[in-house]
Amino acid sequence: MRSQKKGQAGAAAPAVLPRHVGIIMDGNGRWAKKHHQPRPAGHRAGAQNFRTITRYAARLGIQYLTVYTFSTENWSRPAEEVGGLLALFKDYLEEALRDFMDENIRVRFIGDVQAFSPNLQDLMARVEEESSVKTGMVLNLAMNYGGRAELARAARAFAQEVREGRRRPEELDEALLSSYLYTAGQPDPDLIIRPSGEQRLSNFLLWQSAYAEFVYSDILWPDFTPQDLDKALAVYASRQRRFGGV
Ligand code: IPE
Ligand code: IPE
Ligand code: MG
Repeated sequence: MRSQKKGQAGAAAPAVLPRHVGIIMDGNGRWAKKHHQPRPAGHRAGAQNFRTITRYAARLGIQYLTVYTFSTENWSRPAEEVGGLLALFKDYLEEALRDFMDENIRVRFIGDVQAFSPNLQDLMARVEEESSVKTGMVLNLAMNYGGRAELARAARAFAQEVREGRRRPEELDEALLSSYLYTAGQPDPDLIIRPSGEQRLSNFLLWQSAYAEFVYSDILWPDFTPQDLDKALAVYASRQRRFGGV
């Protein structure tokens, strides 16, 4: 560990800072197992770390951060684990709201929030509303998010507008399709980070990540430090992005 204070923007900030970073917060369960604790303890540790890394990213000057919190496929976990996660989101959002306000962070939820309880939905709406005046980093919390579900939703919305005579099918191009996504108006992610050693997207930002740089790390999410984020940013800065050119 460097001597620099935890949570403070590092002097090692790379010359090329990605505008939009995505993080697949994975490895909470394996972290709990490693520490001989039940899985919920891993999720709590992961939630704590979400707070640390989000604050750090905002201080570094990252403009957009998207964190994968709960996927459309995560409902397939045992009911007890899903219930525990939903309870954690509720407790945690209350607490994290203070950070968002202090750090000038604007929060958006991406995903189908209607699947959540009215209480949780109210809280999510309040977090979005209260932070909407903030002008710093935009934090997208991907909750009940899946890239395929997002694309199906976009197709449905467009088809509906065609049916109502407000759009013509031949108008649909990449830019117009993007405008139906949860991330409408935001730049595509430049960098996607996946801790825990897995090297897959697991349905995260499928459309938006077409040219994202992918960096994976063997470190489990609860152990992923600001210094590990610095390292991922340095790897990103060393990459040559070609976008199909030469
Ligand atoms: C990520 O950690 C948290 C969620 C998917 C909600 P996991 O729970 O997937 O942790 P592992 O992959 O089992 O270690
Ligand atoms: C991806 O992790 C989803 C989140 C981190 C929220 P998973 O643990 O669900 O992904 P798989 O099952 O290993 O692909
Ligand atoms: Mg996992």
